[in-house]
Amino acid sequence: MKQLVRGFNLLKRTVGMGGGVIALLWAVGCAQPKPETSTAQAVVTPTAQVALVKAEFVGSAACAGCHPAESDLYKTSNHAATLHDFTKSDLKKAVPPEGKIPRTQMLLKSHGDAFQLARIGHEEKTLPIQLAMGSGKTGVTYVSVLEDQSLIEMRESWFPKTKSWYRTPDMRPLKPTEPGILLQGKTARLCLSCHAVTLPDNALIPEKKFYGVGCESCHGAGSTHVTAMQASSRTSIYMDRLKTWGGEKSVQLCGKCHRSVAPVTGIGAGFTNLFQAPGLMKSKCFSQSKDTLSCITCHNPHTNTEKNESVYVKACLQCHSTPTGTPTVLKPFRIVVCPVNAKEKCIGCHMPTVPVRPNTGLTTKMADHFIRKPERSLAEK
Ligand code: HEC
Ligand code: HEC
Ligand code: HEC
Ligand code: HEC
Ligand code: HEC
Ligand code: HEC
Ligand code: HEC
Repeated sequence: MKQLVRGFNLLKRTVGMGGGVIALLWAVGCAQPKPETSTAQAVVTPTAQVALVKAEFVGSAACAGCHPAESDLYKTSNHAATLHDFTKSDLKKAVPPEGKIPRTQMLLKSHGDAFQLARIGHEEKTLPIQLAMGSGKTGVTYVSVLEDQSLIEMRESWFPKTKSWYRTPDMRPLKPTEPGILLQGKTARLCLSCHAVTLPDNALIPEKKFYGVGCESCHGAGSTHVTAMQASSRTSIYMDRLKTWGGEKSVQLCGKCHRSVAPVTGIGAGFTNLFQAPGLMKSKCFSQSKDTLSCITCHNPHTNTEKNESVYVKACLQCHSTPTGTPTVLKPFRIVVCPVNAKEKCIGCHMPTVPVRPNTGLTTKMADHFIRKPERSLAEK
């Protein structure tokens, strides 16, 4: 394997563990935070009570029998689909075309069900590409896992919807002969950690049942819960009831992957559309609402975003309409009403969908989660 890799020019980019160097290892629409401030493993929610045995991860399929409602919604979510094997059978229609990859001296070739990369003129040297990251909603970035547990993040990403290759955003300095960037050690593990439930201790490729963001990425390892629920009597359900969490704690849970305030420094800091948690936390809606606003005020965590704007408007109006009812049901904060439009169309003005990488030509757009008065947002740009 080492020898094969040597056939390719690789730009090494490791991250200073002392915290000095900030990795700029951006996949499509996806920036890497510093490894030391992020989870290198899946997000583990502490269980409500101390379990007798340490809970282990069991995989989302183990929850389906007892929680059909959440499981049915979840099955078709982009969370579930964010990691695939790079094979024809797993990717189906989302497979990229074989042949020369634009802007490179690379050929993508199928090898049975799987794919390999070869360098034009050196076709005997091939590099296996095992994983496809991203659900295909926008870009899919391919990753080659090497024997020494480092990985190569491919320089070109495939956009199945527009059927085009696109430069993965951190890749501009590469020569046409370089397949991508080499990520080693902690940095390589970090790359996969937000796209899988858990990684094995001594390998980078997760067990198949842990591909994607699973039930346990948010609810924590489930083995003790499953055992307790199967038992005839129990003293605890060994599972937190996330609905009861306050806004800050709840946002931090999603922020493990959607970034919380701390890890976002450097270039990505201003992207309050790409980094929803820090964006939302900058808003007065969050800071002034006494721990009552979180991601789940507007999103069902078990499924994709709602396309019907009225759902979000309803969420805004919970806090931004003239109070009715008795004082006991009033909100614990000051209620302000929009002087421009108090009833509808809030999102286009206060959470506009804007490019994630302005001036790079990348067409991906996302909703700005820093909710604010619109003219201020223009002044800040
Ligand atoms: C054998 C059936 C069974 C299995 C398997 C099971 N659960 Fe549960 N789960 C239950 C029952 C019953 C409750 C309700 C317990 C209660 O409210 O006292 C529950 C409660 C929960 C809750 C708390 C709901 C709340 O009130 O907020 C969560 C979260 C949860 N389960 C997640 C999971 C996850 C994740 C898995 C898979 C790792 C899983 N469950 C597997 C039976 C099961
Ligand atoms: C373990 C990491 C992780 C955690 C924890 C996590 N997410 Fe995500 N989330 C992702 C990834 C990765 C994607 C991108 C999926 C894709 O490839 O399209 C995503 C996508 C989404 C989307 C877009 C879905 C769509 O319509 O395309 C929403 C909304 C979302 N997450 C909300 C949440 C909320 C709310 C929470 C907390 C309750 C949360 N996420 C927790 C990793 C995570
Ligand atoms: C800290 C958690 C985290 C890490 C580490 C991470 N990602 Fe992501 N990734 C996300 C989240 C969250 C999203 C969803 C972005 C969104 O829709 O807001 C995402 C989305 C993506 C997407 C879909 C792109 C898109 O435009 O929706 C790709 C591809 C991707 N990541 C690849 C990677 C690669 C390759 C690495 C490693 C070099 C990586 N990610 C590391 C959290 C992470
Ligand atoms: C992205 C994070 C995330 C993922 C993935 C996720 N959940 Fe949840 N789940 C939550 C949050 C947050 C809540 C509390 C808010 C709510 O009820 O909507 C919740 C609530 C629940 C509840 C309680 C529902 C109720 O009405 O009280 C159950 C049961 C549950 N989840 C099971 C699952 C199962 C099973 C899966 C996998 C198929 C799963 N969850 C995947 C974040 C997640
Ligand atoms: C959980 C309650 C809550 C929700 C939901 C909520 N907000 Fe707010 N919002 C607040 C509070 C509290 C303030 C601060 C009011 C004050 O100035 O005292 C605020 C302030 C604002 C401001 C003024 C910001 C500034 O910087 O002056 C705007 C604009 C706004 N919200 C729009 C929205 C929109 C649009 C939505 C829906 C997408 C929304 N809010 C959802 C509670 C909320
Ligand atoms: C056409 C664009 C537009 C729409 C639609 C719109 N707003 Fe506004 N909103 C504004 C502007 C502009 C301001 C700033 C006005 C000012 O400072 O005089 C504002 C101000 C606000 C404020 C701050 C008020 C204050 O006194 O500080 C809140 C809260 C708010 N909007 C919420 C909403 C909600 C909720 C909706 C949907 C029901 C909504 N807006 C719809 C443009 C809009
Ligand atoms: C006040 C409402 C509101 C809150 C709170 C909120 N979102 Fe969103 N979110 C939206 C809207 C509106 C969209 C755009 C939906 C669309 O058009 O598909 C969106 C879209 C997204 C997307 C898809 C990317 C995009 O913009 O298309 C992700 C991922 C996401 N939100 C994650 C989060 C996370 C994580 C949190 C908590 C930190 C959060 N959201 C809190 C309203 C909200």
